[in-house]
Amino acid sequence: MAEIIDGKRAGEDVAAKVAKASAELVDRTGVKPGLAVVIVGEDPASQVYVASKSRKARECGFHSVQHTLAEDTPEAELLALIDTLNADAAIHGILVQLPLPAHIDSGKVIQAISPDKDVDGFHFINVGKLGAGVLDTAFVPCTPAGSMLLIERIHGRDLSGLNAVVVGRSNIVGKPMANLLLAANATVTIAHSRTKDLPALCRTADILVAAVGRPEMVKGDWVKEGATVVDVGINRIPAPEKGEGKSRLVGDVEFASAAQRAGAITPVPGGVGPMTIAMLMANTLVSACRSAG
Ligand code: GUN
Repeated sequence: MAEIIDGKRAGEDVAAKVAKASAELVDRTGVKPGLAVVIVGEDPASQVYVASKSRKARECGFHSVQHTLAEDTPEAELLALIDTLNADAAIHGILVQLPLPAHIDSGKVIQAISPDKDVDGFHFINVGKLGAGVLDTAFVPCTPAGSMLLIERIHGRDLSGLNAVVVGRSNIVGKPMANLLLAANATVTIAHSRTKDLPALCRTADILVAAVGRPEMVKGDWVKEGATVVDVGINRIPAPEKGEGKSRLVGDVEFASAAQRAGAITPVPGGVGPMTIAMLMANTLVSACRSAG
């Protein structure tokens, strides 16, 4: 039976370190890390994520502001808000929750955020730095960064000789995850919906990262004996066994069967999710430290 990687605990460890460093930064320089979270519309999942990001920022002792805009907010209004936040010396991190309503060009919005405050790591400057392996000054997207810390707990920092397969090629997770694994010397393959014989490819993975957003798509018999499995998916599915209208969260991996074969595996919930929020706090702290000099 696999070791269950406790992301909740790991996330709490990171957040505690961030809170301590934040207090020290305030004492030393008077600079308090500031995070602005922007949400447009009323997507219930996004509302939950945004509320927990703002709450965690407060718990870390940050200046935390949340801007909640109506679903029909014009793109120009959102861009104007970003300009204001870019110019606000009390704000060190800006996060615009995705997805945005269809009438807003997400790409334009992301590129409007100052790369120095882009704690999501989605701006082309930060994407380019990560791609070029310039990790010391890049903001790295939070979910892959948090996943790497969990992998580090099992394998250490050097993944030389290990095969990593990342299932999913999104800009938010799959591609940056692959770049981080590569920077740690893993031999990396990115798989996606057009990959031939995905189960066979997954069975070559010493480290298997699932980031496709499809409930329990990765089956237990796709997992190599002893592999480390990182499940990035958070999917809400109906759970009639819990009562009418009830639902439950599952990952992209069929957990019970995968745990029979894996050496270590992240659960859902309580795996990668809490790490994502913790890394957002870490990125905001780093941004504040840079601005304090
Ligand atoms: N929506 C889902 N994941 C994320 C994320 O990491 N950042 C932002 N901004 N939106 C998201």
